[in-house]
Amino acid sequence: MSKKPKLSPEEKAAQEFMEKIVSLCKRKGFVFQASEIYGGIGNTYDYGPLGVELKRNVKEAWWSRVVTGRGDVVGLDSAIIQNPKVWETSGHVGGFSDPMVDCKECKNRFRADHLEGDLCPKCGGELTEAREFNLMFKTQVGAVEGTSSVAYLRPETAQGIFLNYLNVQNSARLKPPFGIAQIGKSFRNEITPGNFVFRTREFEQAEMEFFVPPDEEQQWYEYWKQARFDWYVELGIRPENLRMRVHEEDELAHYSTGCADVEYLYPFGWGELEGIACRTDFDLKRHSEASGSKLMYFDPQTKEKYTPYVIEPAGGIDRMALTFLIDAYEEEQLEKDTRIVLKFHPEIAPITCAVFPLVKKDGMPEKAHQVEALLRAARFATFYDEKGAIGRRYRRQDEDGTPFCITVDGDTLQDDVVTVRHRDSMSQERVKIDELVSYLYKSIGEWKRV
Ligand code: GAP
Repeated sequence: MSKKPKLSPEEKAAQEFMEKIVSLCKRKGFVFQASEIYGGIGNTYDYGPLGVELKRNVKEAWWSRVVTGRGDVVGLDSAIIQNPKVWETSGHVGGFSDPMVDCKECKNRFRADHLEGDLCPKCGGELTEAREFNLMFKTQVGAVEGTSSVAYLRPETAQGIFLNYLNVQNSARLKPPFGIAQIGKSFRNEITPGNFVFRTREFEQAEMEFFVPPDEEQQWYEYWKQARFDWYVELGIRPENLRMRVHEEDELAHYSTGCADVEYLYPFGWGELEGIACRTDFDLKRHSEASGSKLMYFDPQTKEKYTPYVIEPAGGIDRMALTFLIDAYEEEQLEKDTRIVLKFHPEIAPITCAVFPLVKKDGMPEKAHQVEALLRAARFATFYDEKGAIGRRYRRQDEDGTPFCITVDGDTLQDDVVTVRHRDSMSQERVKIDELVSYLYKSIGEWKRV
């Protein structure tokens, strides 16, 4: 007999909230099911017009703080398909696996370490013994089939960084402490993907390997833990929904001297957003031994020579985007109805400014197009809309998370002053067109969630 586990009221509320987010994402063009017209392909998603801007902004906010905003980190864009020896050396061929069990009744597959007790979540059927399942996607390179042409899609961007350690250090003339950062797609054949874009088989990672003299490891570990936690808070995530979970000794990889996760309180519980790990000299040493290249730091003047230790902040862009979205979502009870608003930090919001003519006549659209052009020239993500009642236009932008709506009315034609309406407070201010760009920069700089 199959037993369907009953959801608790909290679980039901969490499920309903996630359903709301998924439906908003589709309705507003953040995220669509991939291959939807063919019935989809399990847990795979495409990003629509707003989603792609959201992700671009998340990546830019990461890159600007981790790379271009400082002098000691440089970027890299390495290949997804590398020599298969890379993954043998890194330990992924032998050890990158999860324990998997099958349900004999409903034939569903689960991660053994995600099941509580031995009750199968779908039907309560009997489970098989756990087997190890390698998470790397295998593919074939070249026209000849056979083991010689087997290759893997990278399961993390980090290894591409280790492989290029010497190229980057020599070409950019760097001395530890320095970092190499990369954003790009990674692939894992997850046994149980789920929770929307939280766990998928194809996802983007933002990773940085920070190479340090061995005796500076702990101080940089503390530094990056704090810096990465603060990044989320600075970009508007409510601190009460974030925590730093330090790994217990028995959770650490054998070579690691410390690891901590930035976790977020999702509707489905606390989940990992990003990990900050001490990887010691493990990866550089392994690749040195296996390849014969000496991946070390050598100072020609002092003759100092050592293998740097590594601190690695590693996050998922899709998870970050989902987190910004969930945390921004609010339903506000107004006098007559409910306002749905995404209170994104202006740096994260897919659209920064919407420009409206109050009505579609009397020269207002022409003037509004001039304002639009001004804002686009200043590189603000701008949206123009002249359809429907102004109140409805404001509400549509609230749901898109647009922090500023700028309205051109009859007076604007005389005095060159527009109305700026703020998304969060719904307050309005009159601003001279000449001063609009600097006014917006100032408002973005001063933004605080209300
Ligand atoms: N180089 C270390 C590394 O890859 P990880 O904890 O396996 O560490 C880093 O991955 C981050 O990548 C995670 O914190 C998560 O945000 C993201 N990530 C990992 N697997 C994912 C998946 N299947 N779907 C979406 N994001 C994922």
